[in-house]
Amino acid sequence: MSLRFDGRIAIITGAGGGLGRQHALLLGRLGAKVVVNDLGGGMRGDDGKGHRAADAVVDEIRAAGGEAVANYDSVENGEAIVKTALDAFGSVDIVINNAGILRDVSFAKMSTADWDLVHKVHLTGAMRVTHAAWPVMREKAYGRIIMTSSAAGIYGNFGQTNYGAAKLGLLGFANCLAEEGKAKGIHVNTIAPIAASRMTETIMPAEVLARLKPEAVSPLVAWLCHERCAETKGVFEVGAGYISKLRWERTLGARFGEDAGFSPDEVAARWGEITDFSQGEYPGSMHDSFNAILQGGR
Ligand code: NAI
Repeated sequence: MSLRFDGRIAIITGAGGGLGRQHALLLGRLGAKVVVNDLGGGMRGDDGKGHRAADAVVDEIRAAGGEAVANYDSVENGEAIVKTALDAFGSVDIVINNAGILRDVSFAKMSTADWDLVHKVHLTGAMRVTHAAWPVMREKAYGRIIMTSSAAGIYGNFGQTNYGAAKLGLLGFANCLAEEGKAKGIHVNTIAPIAASRMTETIMPAEVLARLKPEAVSPLVAWLCHERCAETKGVFEVGAGYISKLRWERTLGARFGEDAGFSPDEVAARWGEITDFSQGEYPGSMHDSFNAILQGGR
């Protein structure tokens, strides 16, 4: 088996370096026509712009015999990025939302600007690019979309309230979008990667970074973007050659009087039961949630 992307058109945001560059190189090598988007700025999102990062990746893809064009817009201008794909290649099949910045700071010291910029790039940026590609995908009844989330949002991390909120926002966005895309052949999946990049090079020891090659994330991304992959609404942890799928788990729960005539003391008395995962369930939809509310619990 050799999965190929011939004839497919892929947009990869923030593809001038780190993970995005690897996704772009891999898809380019496997035959996709690639839009290499990158603003070419610094890690904090407020320090300069440039064409060099995206151009270098385009050159690499072309030197290996692939097809690629550069786009230098911010993901906040999603329409311009999708227009580059339409002008150069006539359509879009794959959107990999990868662009990102960091404004790590404890919540006590975080400014509204730190919050807003992180949300603009990660969450609004992914929405803008996806929103512009969505009608094209709906029209052709085919699409593959990736969101790049983070363990920081899924599990929590000191100093990343802005980033964690935006990153878990992307998962909520993906979950709802996957439901909307089902009838139109559009699959939406989310990754929570770990990789050595300029984002992590100062916060991890060299021996750990050496194990976290960004190219070890791209095979999962490529598979999720392939026409043969039926997966949608999934979320995957990936890095250092490890790939796993995450899901929600719920306790069996406790049921009190339906007339809401029960006290906080009763809740406290049954706290062990409410939080007991020994007989966990795995809800996967709004329907599962609603059913438990109406009928679940001991
Ligand atoms: P990186 O800093 O090497 O790559 C991010 C790229 O996005 C840069 O090339 C940057 O120029 C570009 N970019 C930033 N703002 C942009 C904008 N407004 N428009 C277009 N491009 C923009 O970092 P890395 O590690 O490759 O990160 C890629 C994604 O993976 C990010 O979304 C990041 O949050 C996420 N991630 C990375 C982890 C890691 O361990 N490296 C962990 C969890 C998530």
